[in-house]
Amino acid sequence: MYKLVVEGGCRLFGEVEISGAKNSVLPIMCASLLTDDDVVLYNVPDLEDIRVMRSLLERLGKEVFFSNGTMVIKTKTDEPYEAPYEIVKKIRASIAVLGPLLAKRKRARVSFPGGCSIGPRPVDLHIKGMRILGASVKVEHGYIVAETDGLTGGLVNMLGINGTSVVATENVMMAATLASGTTVIDNAAMEPEVVDLANFLIKCGAKIKGHGTNTIIVDGVKKLKGCEYTVISDRIEAGTYILAGMMTKGEIILKNCNPMHLVEPINVFRQMGAIIEIINSSSILVKGIEKYEPVNVTTLPYPLFPTDLQAQLMAVLTKARGISIITEKVFQNRFAHAAEMNRMGADITIENSSAIIRGVEKLYSTTVMASDLRGGAGLIIALLGAEGKGELLRLYHVDRGYEKIEEKLSKLGAKVNREKSELI
Ligand code: UD1
Repeated sequence: MYKLVVEGGCRLFGEVEISGAKNSVLPIMCASLLTDDDVVLYNVPDLEDIRVMRSLLERLGKEVFFSNGTMVIKTKTDEPYEAPYEIVKKIRASIAVLGPLLAKRKRARVSFPGGCSIGPRPVDLHIKGMRILGASVKVEHGYIVAETDGLTGGLVNMLGINGTSVVATENVMMAATLASGTTVIDNAAMEPEVVDLANFLIKCGAKIKGHGTNTIIVDGVKKLKGCEYTVISDRIEAGTYILAGMMTKGEIILKNCNPMHLVEPINVFRQMGAIIEIINSSSILVKGIEKYEPVNVTTLPYPLFPTDLQAQLMAVLTKARGISIITEKVFQNRFAHAAEMNRMGADITIENSSAIIRGVEKLYSTTVMASDLRGGAGLIIALLGAEGKGELLRLYHVDRGYEKIEEKLSKLGAKVNREKSELI
């Protein structure tokens, strides 16, 4: 088990290359199940979640080759249809094999993912979507068991009690590509990763319109072919480096990112006082300042402020000039990092789904523990802005979603080291 040792107080300076988007690659890998042809993906980050998804695809009859950001997926057999618990429990996005397996192999047995440290994560919208497309779906012995003689298009409303769902939208969109007739997905998620998946599917021969809006229309086709596709860059990784730059009063340039995917976060960062310049369509300049203004932010589906940047924003707000409020509307229990930040001297109170953050002068380094991916990233930012040497335990959470984090931070001048950890 590894930890990240961080010496706080170093100003980050220089350029950082943003990797491909984890949340695009994962569903696109699942979408490769819709074709027997080869699929070639570029700009694929080398991450733990991607390795887990690779092992799932291999279980499902694919051969996967991966080197230097290029992934080649080939078909050995298209018979397996089970996503077992030992893989699904590691990465919830594996539920995204449900739609492709049903559409292409006519049946699927996918472990029920259960809750996780950021709160309950139901899958009712996935199941509802498959049923509307005509599949029979049961939950048996902890597995979603689904089968069909052939899916048919339908009207699927993705609105659940917590709003729309990203991966459920993706699941239904993938399933609908091979259904007979037209599927309309209402209240569809509009995230750039949904658009990226749609663009990939279109390159494979799917007929999709409206992606990027809240109504997606899919006309089913008989067959999809393989293709070569470059995935978009990771807006959450980009936002994380912007906030790390802000926390350390640094001056950094992000390369290979898409500023258009960060419009709302950039609005918030500017409101706080950060100087952010869009250099061109793939680069952003960030200049941090001494003291930030407090803000009130609510996390909501795209294009609003992403829940996946909530913890990292909170880290910077711990040292802002006054009282900030972050209201979490996507995953209401996603505040485990706040208690760890308080151990570093922050003043955060949680009231229902809101965090009230009273700015303090200083954070003090100590040993803190990640309990989820983005919370871990938030704690690294807190450690970068704290006085003294501290460490983040359970770095494996962060490794799920940040490629070469210690290399990228070191290149920017941070004093960080990955070390073996006795403590778990
Ligand atoms: C995706 C992202 C994740 C991000 C999240 C919200 C991937 C692989 N992961 O996760 O990084 O934090 O979007 O932006 O893309 N819900 C239901 N029923 C369902 C499904 C979801 O009620 O069947 C609820 C969830 O509990 C949550 C909300 O809908 O409150 C949004 O979750 P969802 O968009 O599904 O998250 P994921 O797609 O799992």
